[in-house]
Amino acid sequence: MSSSSESRRSSVPETVKNWFKKGADADAVGLEPGWEYLDLAEWVTEDQLDGFEPIDGPTEIIVNLPKKSMDLQAEATPESLSDIVADVITDIENAQTEFDINERVNKRGKHVIAVLSGKGGVGKTTTLLGLAGAAAAQGKRVLLVDLDPQGSLTLAALDGAVTRTAREAFDDANLADLAVPTVWRDFSGTIEIVPATRHLGQIDVPLSPLHAYSTLVNRLGDLTAYDLMLIDAPATLATLAFEAISLAHKAVIVTEPTRFAVTSAIDAADFARLARRGKRTWNRSVHILLNKFDGSEESTYRSREVQSNFPGEVLKTSISASTEIDYANSAGVPVQAIPGVRADLAARQFEVLLSELTR
Ligand SMILES: Nc1ncnc2c1ncn2[C@@H]1O[C@H](COP(=O)(O)OP(=O)(O)O)[C@@H](O)[C@H]1O
Ligand SMILES: [Mg+2]
Repeated sequence: MSSSSESRRSSVPETVKNWFKKGADADAVGLEPGWEYLDLAEWVTEDQLDGFEPIDGPTEIIVNLPKKSMDLQAEATPESLSDIVADVITDIENAQTEFDINERVNKRGKHVIAVLSGKGGVGKTTTLLGLAGAAAAQGKRVLLVDLDPQGSLTLAALDGAVTRTAREAFDDANLADLAVPTVWRDFSGTIEIVPATRHLGQIDVPLSPLHAYSTLVNRLGDLTAYDLMLIDAPATLATLAFEAISLAHKAVIVTEPTRFAVTSAIDAADFARLARRGKRTWNRSVHILLNKFDGSEESTYRSREVQSNFPGEVLKTSISASTEIDYANSAGVPVQAIPGVRADLAARQFEVLLSELTR
C-alpha cells in the first residue's frame, strides 16, 4: 500500500466507523446523483477495511461510479481501491449537510404514502384518487405527486392542462414549487398535484438492488402546507418506483385478486423492502392492499393467497370491485364526488383505508 493512501486512510476511520454504525447513506449526506452502493466484499478483504464493522449485510461502501469507474475497471487493486475509498470519504465529509429525512417528511401529523405494484392496471391511481377524496372530504390538504409517466392521475386531476411536471424535480426544482391546484373543487379541503407526462419516462432506468440514492428527498421544498402526500408510481420497478418509496412513510403495494397480479405484488414488495434496507435508518413500512375484490371463488382463493404470501402485511381494509369506482375514473373525479348510495359505499371504504393508513 502506498504511503499516500495510508495516510489518507488513517485520517478518516472515525468517519467511516460512524457512517457504518449510523447506517448513513448517500442522500443522508446529500450526495449528488450517480452515487451508488457498491458491494466491496468482492474487492476488498475485511482487514483492508481495518475492522470497520458494517451494521448488517455485506460490506458496503459508497463509491462515486461516474468519476471512479475508469479506475475501478482499469486496476482494481487493493491500493487503488483504498485511494478511491479515501477520496470518496473526503467527498462525503465535504458534502455533509444537516439533512434529515425524518425532519423533512416525517413531521408530526403528516403522512406520505406511495403506491406501488409490479403489474399495471391493478388500481394504484384509483387508490390514490380514493384516498385523496377521503382526506379532502375531511378538510385535509392533500398533495398528489404523479411519478407515473402514463400520467393517469394528472389526466384526471388537471384535465390535460399541464405545464411544469415532476420531471423538473430531477433537475433542480422542488416538488413544493411544482404543485398546482386540481380541477376538483367540491371538497372542504384542497387537493393539489405535481403532474407527470410521458417525459418522466426518460429517467426511469433499472437500478441495482443496492441503490441507495434518492434525488427527490433533496427536492422536497416547503411542504408544510400539506397534511397528506400521496405518490403514484409506475408498475415498472425502477428509478421512479424507488423515488416514490424513498419519499414515503408507507409503501402500499396494490394488488387485485388474480394470479398475475399476486405474483407481481411479491416482486413489488421485495423491491420495496430492498429500498428500505438501503435506507435502513428510515422509518417506513410495506403494506399490501387488495383491490377489486368481487366475492367470486377466484377472488376468495387469491385473497387467501395474498394473506399467506404476506403474513402480517395485508391491510385490513380491502376495496371492492365497483362500477361506481370505474365510473368515477372515467369521469376523472374521486369517487366521493359521485352521488348515490353505491358510490357512498365505495367512498366509505377509502375513508376506512385512509384511517387505517394514517392512524
Ligand atoms: N375497485 C375497483 N372497481 C372497479 N374498477 C376498478 C377498481 N379499481 C380500479 N378499477 C379500474 O381498473 C382500471 C385500472 O385502474 P388504475 O387505477 O388505472 O390502475 P393502475 O394505476 O394500477 O394502473 C381502471 O379502468 C379502473 O377504473
Ligand atoms: Mg396508474
